[in-house]
Amino acid sequence: MIKREDSENIMNPKSTEQLAKFETTLRPKVLGEYIGQEEVKKNLLISMNASKRRNEPLEHVLLHGPAGLGKTTLANIIVHEMRVNIKVTSGPALEKQGDLASIITNLQENDVLFIDEIHRLRPVVEEILYTAMEDFGIDIIIGKGPSARSMRLALPKFTLIGATTKMSMLSSPLRDRFGHVFKLEFYTVDHIREIIMRSAKILKCEIEEKAAEVLAGSSRQTPRIANRLLRRARDYADYKGVKKIDEKLVKESLNSLNVDHLGLDRTDREILSSIIDKFSGGPVGLNTIAASVAEEEATLEDIYEPFLLQLGFIERTPRGRVATRRAYDHLGLRKDLF
Ligand code: ADE
Repeated sequence: MIKREDSENIMNPKSTEQLAKFETTLRPKVLGEYIGQEEVKKNLLISMNASKRRNEPLEHVLLHGPAGLGKTTLANIIVHEMRVNIKVTSGPALEKQGDLASIITNLQENDVLFIDEIHRLRPVVEEILYTAMEDFGIDIIIGKGPSARSMRLALPKFTLIGATTKMSMLSSPLRDRFGHVFKLEFYTVDHIREIIMRSAKILKCEIEEKAAEVLAGSSRQTPRIANRLLRRARDYADYKGVKKIDEKLVKESLNSLNVDHLGLDRTDREILSSIIDKFSGGPVGLNTIAASVAEEEATLEDIYEPFLLQLGFIERTPRGRVATRRAYDHLGLRKDLF
């Protein structure tokens, strides 16, 4: 498949060390600094306080929701608030049972094990996680052949924090072993504006409230994108020699990035117009759309589709994706003419 070589794709950038560092400095470290997700924060606070009082580790936590909403940030906040250590890994990184065994046998009492993309754990690895989560033990086989026997090794009590963008791909035995299941929702525009104002302060860049509001409107209700658009607006201001970011400058910056007032970029619009023009509005399979816009299916599914669904621009049906009237309206097309 031909892969598009964009100079920079604002929704799905190449990850660089610099970007990771930038995002780390903007991430809140304590729950009090974390904006939005009020229900998650409230329940986490109750459970963290109770666990601390009982001097027990927090029960296992599953965080799910679209990319960029703060699952890793929340995991790090839990670690900070509980004053414990964190070991970070991911579903695809754990290839063999031994990979997971060596990590969990090295945990200290009350530590956090963070498994990102936990839906991508291989079944053989997932299997040893069950006893580790439930009984804080791991079964190891000693010897070979007829004399082989199994011995249970006790583990320190730990908290597993799993993060996933695909809750439906988690097996129910794994899902059932989490004491806390938190769904992160898309943020309100007001919360995104607050996040932008907070980030601007940390970055020591001046921005008008109204400019932050416009930026928030184009941030796909996602903090990671809001912070990235703020960084682009800051670049644009530096390039233009402007000290304070105002509404006009933000609009010019978004324009040059091809991001519209709802936060859709060129790829989003191509996805919608491809469904409408080439496939008569759908239904059409995701793989066909992916080939038509020269993107990978996983990128469409993980990065683009969740927000188009959230906006009500597309619908998922058993026979494929369908463009809704809202999508036609947004592109300035008349549905009855197609
Ligand atoms: N930066 C990224 N996500 C954030 C959040 N939810 N609150 C504050 N700052 C953030």
